[in-house]
Amino acid sequence: MTVTILTGASSGLGQSFLEALGQDKKYRTDEVWLIARRRERLEELAERSAIPCRVIPLDLTDPASFTELERLLNEQKPEVRLLINNAGCGKVGKVEELPFEQQTQMVDLNVRALTAITAITLPFMTAGSGIINVCSIASFVPNTRMTVYSSTKAYVSSFSAGLREEVKGRGIRVLSVCPGPMATEFLPVAGIQTGVSKTFDRLPYCNPDRVAKKSLQKALAGRGVYTPRGFYKFYRVLAKILPRGLMMKFSKV
Ligand SMILES: NC(=O)c1ccc[n+]([C@@H]2O[C@H](COP(=O)([O-])OP(=O)(O)OC[C@H]3O[C@@H](n4cnc5c(N)ncnc54)[C@H](OP(=O)(O)O)[C@@H]3O)[C@@H](O)[C@H]2O)c1
Repeated sequence: MTVTILTGASSGLGQSFLEALGQDKKYRTDEVWLIARRRERLEELAERSAIPCRVIPLDLTDPASFTELERLLNEQKPEVRLLINNAGCGKVGKVEELPFEQQTQMVDLNVRALTAITAITLPFMTAGSGIINVCSIASFVPNTRMTVYSSTKAYVSSFSAGLREEVKGRGIRVLSVCPGPMATEFLPVAGIQTGVSKTFDRLPYCNPDRVAKKSLQKALAGRGVYTPRGFYKFYRVLAKILPRGLMMKFSKV
């Protein structure tokens, strides 16, 4: 049995990935495993999906979820053709202001869960399999008032680049996707409403359906990083050549 594993499948970009998978014949697997906390949302999406789905409600900030996924993989022994590490969350606020639990939740989901799921899934991948890690433009430069979030995404960027080299010999592709803001539940969950951040109010938004569709294409083409929109591609180049302190002045949330 061939399988695609999609985390954060219940809304936003995850939902767009599921729709894009249904439309893209090159990515057809026997099942898509949908992971997120909200079971009902996953069941609704599974019912509407063009591909057979297995609903796996898990809280990925709980390490027991990794054991459960590992158990399922060992039981089903699928060939995992694609892993999309998409689940993630952010919070606006200074380190000294935010409750520490909200800060460690970002680390647990964006860093620990992504790492654990990748490590658990890799033994079930073969040549031609792919991993898409959803990163962010926040990985390019530390964003004050989103210091923890941008640090978790810097980890995702570095992890993806290192992993890409490690698994190249096995014929496994790794892509890191770095979108700018998208109008998804991420923003209210992070506490980003209009007026909270001038930067967010001014930035051009990315369309999640387009990001998902293009990410699948870039992954298949063997690309290492995909940054949607020319504006953010330019920002990424600037972040590489200009001093970090200077870039941080323009990147405050
Ligand atoms: N939207 C943006 O502006 C933006 C920009 C750049 C990058 N990103 C990245 O894009 C990815 C997708 O975010 P999105 O914009 O689609 O936001 P979203 O709509 O809030 O989706 C987040 C997904 O993660 C799941 N999730 C959250 N906490 C979880 C937990 N503890 N355990 C399991 N699943 C959990 C959510 O499902 P449940 O609530 O059902 O668990 C949901 O399916 C994230 O990695 C985010 O960092 C977003």
